[in-house]
Amino acid sequence: MNRSDPSTQQPVIAPPSRRIRLRLPRLKTARGVFDARRVASTIAFFARDLHKHLGLLIPAGLAMLAATLLSLAAPWPVQVVLDHVILGRPARGVMSDVLARLGDPRNVLLAACAAVVLIAAARGLFEYASQILQADAAHRIGNKLRHRVFKHLQQLSLRFHERSRTGDLLLRLTGDITLVRDLLVASLFDLMAALLLLSGLLAMMFRLSPALAAVALATLPAVVAASWLTSVRLRAAVRKKREKEGDLISAAAEVLGAISHVQAFTREDAEKDRVSRLERSSLRAELKTVRLESKLARTVEIVTALGTCGILYLGVGDVLAGKLSPGTLIVFISYYTSLVKPIRQLAKTAGRMAKASSCADRVREVLDEVPEIQDAPDAVVAPPLAGHIRFERLRFDYEPGRPVLRDIHLDIPSGQRVALVGPTGAGKSTLMKLLLRFYDPTAGCVRVDGRDIREFTLESLRRQISVVQQHTVLFGTTLGDNIAMGRLGATRADVEAAARELGIEEWIASLPNGYDTIVGERGATLSGGQRQLVALARAILRGGRILIFDEPTTGLDGRTEQQIRRALQRAMRNRTTLIISHGLRPLADVDRVIVLTEGRIVQDGSHDDLRGEVGVYRELFEVPSEPDLVRGAPA
Ligand SMILES: Nc1ncnc2c1ncn2[C@@H]1O[C@H](COP(=O)(O)OP(=O)(O)OP(=O)(O)O)[C@@H](O)[C@H]1O
Ligand SMILES: [Mg+2]
Repeated sequence: MNRSDPSTQQPVIAPPSRRIRLRLPRLKTARGVFDARRVASTIAFFARDLHKHLGLLIPAGLAMLAATLLSLAAPWPVQVVLDHVILGRPARGVMSDVLARLGDPRNVLLAACAAVVLIAAARGLFEYASQILQADAAHRIGNKLRHRVFKHLQQLSLRFHERSRTGDLLLRLTGDITLVRDLLVASLFDLMAALLLLSGLLAMMFRLSPALAAVALATLPAVVAASWLTSVRLRAAVRKKREKEGDLISAAAEVLGAISHVQAFTREDAEKDRVSRLERSSLRAELKTVRLESKLARTVEIVTALGTCGILYLGVGDVLAGKLSPGTLIVFISYYTSLVKPIRQLAKTAGRMAKASSCADRVREVLDEVPEIQDAPDAVVAPPLAGHIRFERLRFDYEPGRPVLRDIHLDIPSGQRVALVGPTGAGKSTLMKLLLRFYDPTAGCVRVDGRDIREFTLESLRRQISVVQQHTVLFGTTLGDNIAMGRLGATRADVEAAARELGIEEWIASLPNGYDTIVGERGATLSGGQRQLVALARAILRGGRILIFDEPTTGLDGRTEQQIRRALQRAMRNRTTLIISHGLRPLADVDRVIVLTEGRIVQDGSHDDLRGEVGVYRELFEVPSEPDLVRGAPA
């Protein structure tokens, strides 16, 4: 056994300075600042997810480029037919060679018709290929990202989860990630395709007629300004909408998770009303985003209609003055009307990107959250522990300045059986949580076998502690699987051995399907006492030399209590045991009782000693005389 003298040992590791940074939603609207920078920073943040899929993304980009070039070629067959077949104008350059080779105008017409079909078919094919490749990449990126976020969420400390709402985290894990995936692939490709087509069209238009192109260009700033302003407002609106959706899912999850309470208190209608209220406010937020989006689309349409008007008027003047061939004007107008598509696409994509970057911020917030409890850089794997526990000058606050535990000095030799009692809220469960390192002490330290537990890796420390928590959770699988969860890779033989060690194999055999009995979600089909037995078996299977059992028998009938007490007596053999109890019976089986009140140890001694003392212990249990206890005193 490793007993250390606290006065000669300095705490090896300083208390963590990193406090949890739970960021609450900020509703700042970045007025007047377009969020291209934020979108870029989002893309940069997720760049490593993109980088790994370049094998799909590059071919998708090349196919998109080919489709864009074919779009630019699309109106030219019409020009050839109009100028050379109908009007019989002579051609120049390469075109005159081609026309000479085709000879008869009928052949030219046929070739032009064939070109229209071929161009359309080839463009369709390239677009199809690009979309398939994009979808494939997007799916893979989304899945990888979800794994990353899920893994991170599981590593985040208890304090984070206690303050987060499950529904909101689920939304971040599902809907938000889907939008991020779209931002990273679909939106980015749409943006590039639109920009490519737009610049191609403008370049061609300037070549055909610089004056008309200038008119076309003049309409662009209005469109761009409208989309920028909208996307800034859209971002705030979407963030709000997402929060409302998170509230809605959280409320529904809460009701379904506590359905027995809802039904027992006949709160069904009240809960339905609460959910409908949330639904209405989510709908209002949703409508706001739709209004903003459609306003933008209308503005873009009107601006481009005005542009078409001007080009038509000036262009026909040029044709009549002989400065432009009729076929070229047709091509130009076709280019200008094609311009609407990438511009609207840009506006739409800007809106979508604004939406998605709000969601991306929500995903980033999770990934940026630093786990409060982490392995120290020099943490070592804990050796097999003997189970000598020591709390040293320990103080702990959940909220800064409001200590829940203060000045706790407690030395528990290896193998000792200790009960921790005290009024509700005294800090008993909190003390256990510090031993499991769910939190780190605000001051002082917890030692096991003489070493500060922060010196050990979390995993190796927790692996050696068997715990039954105050609110036992079973999973919706079989009883055997629930016990086997105590240790990774446990076999049926291990499960049976644990049940035998506790003396509960007969009870399990008496169940309709024995170890294969399905226990229902959260163990709903077992009684409270049965759940405790399964949880104790799971803890025993873990095999740690330290056993913690929070509230073993509260609220159980005499027979079940006896069953658990017997199982517990066996489980305590050869283990340092900490039992937190409000009941009297388990106290008769321990070596030592610690009384905790308002975060301080006020009494420490054997059950018999404390029964004789005037103090909290006597008040707590109004210790009856020996014969009463034997007959079964009220707990
Ligand atoms: N996650 C938390 N955040 C903030 N305060 C908390 C948290 N958990 C517990 N507390 C507070 O810390 C105090 C001690 O709680 P703890 O659960 O340790 O009490 P306990 O002695 O186990 O009580 P009981 O016998 O009812 O289980 C209580 O005042 C409680 O309100
Ligand atoms: Mg408790």
